[in-house]
Amino acid sequence: MTLNIAVLPGDGVGPEVIAEAIKALKAIGLIYGHTFNFNYGLVGAAAIAKHNTALPEETISLCKDADAVLFGAIGDIAYDIDPDAAIRPEQGLLGIRKALQLHTNIRPVIAYPDLLNKSSLKVRQIKDTNILIYRELTGGIYFGEKTLSEDGNTASDTCTYHRHEIERIAHEAFKAAQSRKGKLTLVDKANVLESSRLWRRVVLQLAKQYPDVSLNFMFIDNAAVELIKNPKQFDVILTENMFGDILSEEASVIVGSIGLLASGSHGEKHVMFEPIHGAYTAAKDKGIANPIASILSAALLLDHFNLADEAALIRDAVDKSLNLHITTPDLNTKYNNISTSKVGDFIEDFINNPEETNLNFTNIHLGQSTII
Ligand code: IPM
Ligand code: MG
Repeated sequence: MTLNIAVLPGDGVGPEVIAEAIKALKAIGLIYGHTFNFNYGLVGAAAIAKHNTALPEETISLCKDADAVLFGAIGDIAYDIDPDAAIRPEQGLLGIRKALQLHTNIRPVIAYPDLLNKSSLKVRQIKDTNILIYRELTGGIYFGEKTLSEDGNTASDTCTYHRHEIERIAHEAFKAAQSRKGKLTLVDKANVLESSRLWRRVVLQLAKQYPDVSLNFMFIDNAAVELIKNPKQFDVILTENMFGDILSEEASVIVGSIGLLASGSHGEKHVMFEPIHGAYTAAKDKGIANPIASILSAALLLDHFNLADEAALIRDAVDKSLNLHITTPDLNTKYNNISTSKVGDFIEDFINNPEETNLNFTNIHLGQSTII
């Protein structure tokens, strides 16, 4: 298979983690005889510095012409502390989501057996957690009208949803539930928000087409508690844009590090894969960022093109790295000399040579070659 992949490394640790995902994809390409063409584009603070816009036209075209987009991270501390900045890096990510109409963002939350004790939650609570969060990605308060009064004292953001925006992601979430445990939880704030009541109405109507799915509702404030108190009760969670942003980040506590969570964003014509974490500017160029979310985003990309064996091999390599504690310092207090690229090297080596007998444990923990 030939795939043209637009690569947008973005800001902060984005370039470092994406380099490791590319390593894994290149290894997969060689083994399985696929041609992956990687075409790089600028976005975020990196694009502002060069083109004075967070999303240059040529980046949009690059992504529109590609079979898939691989995204790194976005944001920069310089803008985070400046509420008056007219141009913001995040406009690049939001702009690309809108331009490609990536309305359905899927964020898997899976508790790895080898990491159960890394979570600050109790092992018995989180063991066997396996949730898919369906986050609506191109509507809601992120994209509604924004105002700031002339005197600078009043501001507003509007949360608007249209029926068709709810229907298209809800269908996907129902279908996902059908192929899993058959449970769908709509998270909203229908006791207060009109837009949430529209979500409820629309989702309830669609539920008739999916009699094999058991649908339940939860208010976002309660869901925030239940998600970490008893995550195993969830199968598929469906929610609007901002609630999904917050809940998915909270869910990283279950898994042990936000550096592990990948996501896929889907529209009618385009797809994009990206870690759920941000740019983590403080870690830039220190080699401490966890590349696994980016590497697992590459696995989701392969899944999308029905390359199931290829995706499984990447996941096996990730599992092995976690099992052997070949991880960056966010997960690893014992051997903290294992850098972003060393984790990527191990995963690449394992993809090329998935035989345990080839592992050299002494070298691994010295941060040296992992293969005899
Ligand atoms: C995410 C991020 C983005 C979002 C930011 C960087 C704009 O937090 O993908 O979760 O809020 O969607
Ligand atoms: Mg977020």
